Amino acid sequence: MITKLDLRNFYIAPDAPWKLRWDGAVLAGAVLATVLAPLNLAFDFSDSVFFLLVDIGITLLFIADIIILFHTAYVDKRRLVTDKKCIRMRYLKGWFWLDLFAAVPFFLFAGPAYLTINRVARFARITRILKLISGARVIGRLKKTKINPNVMRLALMIFWLLLAAHIIATGMILVGGVPADLPDGMRYLQAFYWTVTTLATVGYGDITPDRNNPLQLLFTIITQFIGVGMYGFIIGNISTVIANIDIAKSQYREKMERINTFLKYRNIPHDLTKRINDYYDYLWESRRGYDESSVVDELPFSLKIQVSQELHRDIITKVPLFKGANHSFIRDIILNLRPVVYTPGDYIVRKGELGEEMYFISRGAVDVVSEDESVIYATLQEGAFFGEIALLLSSPRNATIKAREYCDLYSLDKRTFEKILEKYPDFAKEVAKMAEQRRKETEAAAKKKKS
Ligand code: CMP
Repeated sequence: MITKLDLRNFYIAPDAPWKLRWDGAVLAGAVLATVLAPLNLAFDFSDSVFFLLVDIGITLLFIADIIILFHTAYVDKRRLVTDKKCIRMRYLKGWFWLDLFAAVPFFLFAGPAYLTINRVARFARITRILKLISGARVIGRLKKTKINPNVMRLALMIFWLLLAAHIIATGMILVGGVPADLPDGMRYLQAFYWTVTTLATVGYGDITPDRNNPLQLLFTIITQFIGVGMYGFIIGNISTVIANIDIAKSQYREKMERINTFLKYRNIPHDLTKRINDYYDYLWESRRGYDESSVVDELPFSLKIQVSQELHRDIITKVPLFKGANHSFIRDIILNLRPVVYTPGDYIVRKGELGEEMYFISRGAVDVVSEDESVIYATLQEGAFFGEIALLLSSPRNATIKAREYCDLYSLDKRTFEKILEKYPDFAKEVAKMAEQRRKETEAAAKKKKS
């Protein structure tokens, strides 16, 4: 993003897209080096031009990476540090030495296969594995991508296991654990097979170390120990993945179990238990069991506004009264809306009660009925509001409101409602007009019923 080409102040932004790709390439080079270096030790590719070219390529990649890292800014306490000296010092104190070891051009020293120096160079090349440790930093950044973290965790686990098995298998060849007269491919396969059976503690025993060869015995013992450790690694990873698969769902199940145990213990009637379960099922289906306000309340003010706007976008578009309203009005309303859920048959408001809040319907329908429920004055749907008359006139509720179905409502408390009326006279006028109309309609209908 911020790669500047003024030579004195030149630095590379650590989050530049090309830098991430470069890090990916270095990691791929490190993996290749980790695969090739032990293979080269076991089978000696010194005469292969292809191997030489790959080796030169990897060396150049690692050298270039060191140069790049000396110019890459870093983030410290959320601030980008671009100062050359700081960058240099940090790298020198950190990964530099590992990177330097890995970037040594071993092919220059190797010489022909029959020289001892060749064998030394092949051994030394094993240090390339070190680059994998520093290169693995990029994996941390990959974790922040959209890939499911559980899939990523499993994929990484398999990757590390295969890599470890590969290194151990080549070690087994090196200590002479598999017959030398077999073709190279077969030797590798047998060694890999032995590694897997030993690491997995299956140990068929069809390929075993020579009991008179201390090196092979020692190597086998170490591998067995590693195998035991790996079990812990695999089980730990898999249990974390399982625990993380759906935290929300497992928390919900746990909560339902607790509630149902309590309801049973207190002999709550079956019908009521069913309604409670239905209510929680609805909460799960409509909002994954999360209490929206508890999530939003924890956020700082600026984020709260944005998140509330996103969460309540539907109600703003559904309520005709809000259409065309200005930004600050929407913000004032949105920040004070509280989501509430009612189940079918619930009384939301009862005639004659004092009112402390009004409601907007986001989903579902309600009936406006007389106290004895013999008259239905109106049925209100999505986008409608109710409960405003008691707030406007400071009078008792003039009707009962009953949920027809599952209802997602937003409540607005009296104090905020009054403040908003004061601040936005147009809105106040509109609400007052509707309230007056409703009040008259209901009064007329009630009178008609009496007579
Ligand atoms: P409130 O009196 O606070 O509580 C009952 C609510 O029912 C009332 O406010 C109105 O919002 C609503 N209401 C009353 N009469 C009608 C009607 N005829 N049509 C629609 N809604 C009504």
